[in-house]
Amino acid sequence: MKKAIVTGADGLLGRRVVAALRAADYDVTGVDLDTLDITDFAAVRRMFADIAPDIAINCAAWTDVDGCARDPERALRVNGYGAQNVAVASALVSSAVVQISSNEVFDGQQTAPYREYDDTRAANPYGYSKLTAERGVVAVNPRHFIVRTAWLFDENGRNFIHAILNAAQSGKPLRVVTDEVATPTYNVDLATALVALVDSGRYGVYHLTNGGACSRYDFARHVLDCAGWHDTPITPITLADWPRDSTPPPHAVLANTSAAAIGITLRDWQSAVADFVRQHAP
Ligand SMILES: NC(=O)c1ccc[n+]([C@@H]2O[C@H](COP(=O)([O-])OP(=O)(O)OC[C@H]3O[C@@H](n4cnc5c(N)ncnc54)[C@H](OP(=O)(O)O)[C@@H]3O)[C@@H](O)[C@H]2O)c1
Repeated sequence: MKKAIVTGADGLLGRRVVAALRAADYDVTGVDLDTLDITDFAAVRRMFADIAPDIAINCAAWTDVDGCARDPERALRVNGYGAQNVAVASALVSSAVVQISSNEVFDGQQTAPYREYDDTRAANPYGYSKLTAERGVVAVNPRHFIVRTAWLFDENGRNFIHAILNAAQSGKPLRVVTDEVATPTYNVDLATALVALVDSGRYGVYHLTNGGACSRYDFARHVLDCAGWHDTPITPITLADWPRDSTPPPHAVLANTSAAAIGITLRDWQSAVADFVRQHAP
């Protein structure tokens, strides 16, 4: 039985990855901040030496993008160098490593979808910390998968879909941006694709999101329509109307060309959202 370590195992994605690996018969050790702080290199190295995994999937991160903008040094420490710690520790025990990355490694100024090997240029400190992680991982462990994704949704944790439905139900006015475009991605689909990717043994850089792209406004509209709230109005606004500490890339759509070449694709975002709303709408 192959052994896996999942860091950030209690997070939104980590939980799904643990479940997907177990369903594929991996012997999984899931750890999170309370059991393994990825910024503590000695502790990471010790755990990897004890377990000797075949694969490590680093889902741990500081994902508060506005927090990262206010404290870029902490973002670098956790997201950048923490990821590098996991990659070095995995290399030392001859384990492959998966680093989960983000569409925010691109500045979002390109109108066409970004391909895996397009030039990166982070638009904000969170994106810069994720880019630092990518570069650190690539430099220290040749058996790496860099997997960029975007706009994750799931039933636990922070959830755009529940936020929209709860606001609609309580009659709160909805204002959603039209000029931030990417692809909503269902964690269940992503976790399944991640296991297929790991099993392929084809290391490299990958973009894994559900298919297609939309604005946050279109995303919210589709959620309400799927839940039968067709008449609930949403006021379209722009990023300029919604000041925040981080600057999201306006058009950071990821083209999945590399995984598609080995037969790994995800369904379109509309079907994934419809499925999710059917099962989990409050
Ligand atoms: N969510 C998205 O829309 C999205 C989009 C693109 C890419 N990603 C990437 O996907 C990955 C998973 O994100 P997610 O949405 O699952 O985030 P999440 O729910 O915030 O999970 C991250 C987990 O990492 C833990 N963590 C934080 N600092 C740590 C440290 N120093 N050592 C060990 N664990 C630590 C967190 O613990 P605490 O909760 O206690 O801090 C949390 O359990 C991340 O790499 C993220 O950058 C996410």
